[in-house]
Amino acid sequence: MNAEIIKLAEQFAKQQLESDTSGHDWWHIHRVRRLALELARHEDADPFICELAALLHDVADEKLNESKEAGLWKVRHWLEGQGVELKTIEEVMTIIATMSFNGGKNPPMETIEGKVVQDADRLDALGAIGIARTFLYSGFKGHLLHYPEADFETFEKLDYRSDKKTAIYHFYEKLLKLKDLLNTQHAKKIAAKRHQFMLDFLTQFCEEWEMKDYKDI
Ligand code: ADP
Ligand code: NI
Repeated sequence: MNAEIIKLAEQFAKQQLESDTSGHDWWHIHRVRRLALELARHEDADPFICELAALLHDVADEKLNESKEAGLWKVRHWLEGQGVELKTIEEVMTIIATMSFNGGKNPPMETIEGKVVQDADRLDALGAIGIARTFLYSGFKGHLLHYPEADFETFEKLDYRSDKKTAIYHFYEKLLKLKDLLNTQHAKKIAAKRHQFMLDFLTQFCEEWEMKDYKDI
């Protein structure tokens, strides 16, 4: 029964997200699902809940639906339609509704399954893939690459206005903060290398921008 639901959820997620070009496409779901299962193994979390929530988490994303409520309703309606147990539906819906970054303002996840799926989603926002997804999303939204007036040292203090939102700014508003917001030890270990890779990328970006990268040649 569980294996059948997972198979159907996979088909549903593929069908819903196959044409997404904002970095929330099926392959993001595929990676988050694998990471969630890996973390679940380390944390002794329920693999079925973790896998199901990972598969469905972005079907409900408010960026891809009319509203957050509409996205959540779509997933709940689908789960009910498959005859999934009510307890499972509630667990999965709670995870999906509260796992988003939301400026770091959402309260901590309550269940170990929630912590696992949230960490898996956040790990996919880090490292080389995280960098690639950020530029994909920025292009999708029509954002600028970088704001020449922005000082790399004072990004935190940058007076935030939507017209100043750039791809590079996203590292400072979110991505570099994620490693300290992870829940599980195993995710923190995976994140360390990915975080360092982003720092190295930003250092190189900054050096090229300021034409300092050829000084030793
Ligand atoms: P969450 O699921 O935690 O709410 P999002 O769906 O907002 O996260 O973000 C997922 C990924 O999409 C980010 O890790 C990033 O790569 C990209 N992204 C989201 N918002 C932005 C942005 N404003 N600028 C650039 N990339 C973004
Ligand atoms: Ni996601």
